[in-house]
Amino acid sequence: MQTLEITKDIHWVGVLNATLRAFDVVFQPRFGTTYNSYLIRADKPAIIDCVHEKFAQEYLEKLRSLINLKDICYIVVNHTEMDHTGALSLLLQETPNAQILSTKTAALFLKNILHMDVKGKTVEDGECVSLGNKQLQFIHAPYWHWPDTMFTYLQEDRVLFPCDGFATHFCDERLFNDRVDDFTEDFRYYFEHVMGPFRKKILEAIEKIKGLDIRLIAPSHGPILRTDPWKYIHAYKDWSMVRKDPYKKLVLVFYASMYGNTKKMAEAVAKGAATVHTEVKLFDAASISPESVRCEMEAADGILIGSSTINGDALKPLWDIISVMFSVNVKLKKCATFGAYGWSGEATRLLEERLKGLKLTIVQPPIKVLLIPTEENLKRCSIFGYDFATSLTAAQ
Ligand code: FEO
Repeated sequence: MQTLEITKDIHWVGVLNATLRAFDVVFQPRFGTTYNSYLIRADKPAIIDCVHEKFAQEYLEKLRSLINLKDICYIVVNHTEMDHTGALSLLLQETPNAQILSTKTAALFLKNILHMDVKGKTVEDGECVSLGNKQLQFIHAPYWHWPDTMFTYLQEDRVLFPCDGFATHFCDERLFNDRVDDFTEDFRYYFEHVMGPFRKKILEAIEKIKGLDIRLIAPSHGPILRTDPWKYIHAYKDWSMVRKDPYKKLVLVFYASMYGNTKKMAEAVAKGAATVHTEVKLFDAASISPESVRCEMEAADGILIGSSTINGDALKPLWDIISVMFSVNVKLKKCATFGAYGWSGEATRLLEERLKGLKLTIVQPPIKVLLIPTEENLKRCSIFGYDFATSLTAAQ
């Protein structure tokens, strides 16, 4: 596929990567991805975003087929992650008259990506840069999903270039959202995995763009959103709102149990944690998908994790639950651990260490029970749960 004029004088010059099945190692696109870049043919031509290094030659050929690269006046770097800047140094070699437009943070990052002097101008939030017959407006949108990120709005054409925002890892050369196959699930997957930890920042940036007349969204990955673009903005807003009883703290209790002993402890802990000020959700980690509790994790005020110890370790379903936390905003959430064991009982300590590494706050020492819990042990578990719940409301 070559290039595509997506609206008058704006050309998609991106590349397709249909076979990609692991993005940033941890994300798993079902249908590959695209690296979208755009050429704006204006009095002062501009390029928006760039592509992965692997596709640099194909990308440059596409641009050369449309324009003399020496005529490019601006290269807008909305975000510096290397899937959008990998080919930038080669592009700069052919665009000697181009100035890079970016946020200050992006300019700092670029120094350590390009390792060369470049002509650059940092743009402020709301600043406009004229292309002669068209005008670019910049909207700072930090943490979509890096601290460097911004959106670019092309005023005359009412096109928003949000880079990773409203993007999808979904490769379909028909490109437009009204032409490609159904990508609903992939759009949501992308949001949850890439943007999910930054819901507060998502809402802040949506507040900034709500007054813009946006007719088309041209993201850096996947379908170009020309039909009902606001549907996608509203979806981000909807998914970013935390829904829970505003008058209660939410406590999640995850457990995995080999012989039912840690399960008994979990039930007692959950019972103790359920007070008039708290809502408690109890999960057997072995019978749920870690992905399915992402929203609960986001909304939770406190997380309790209980595991039996096996061969000096915690049980795998709990590591799987914790593995989701890196892409959820769990920083400073309160937590504690518990579990039954046979002779060594390392699980609680190992879980604590990992939770601390993820910057959760351990609020009380673990409770451990040797083999089968007695009634007295279960009373202690209930008090453990109550103390944990109390620590949540005490912080108010
Ligand atoms: Fe598509 Fe954050 O890079």
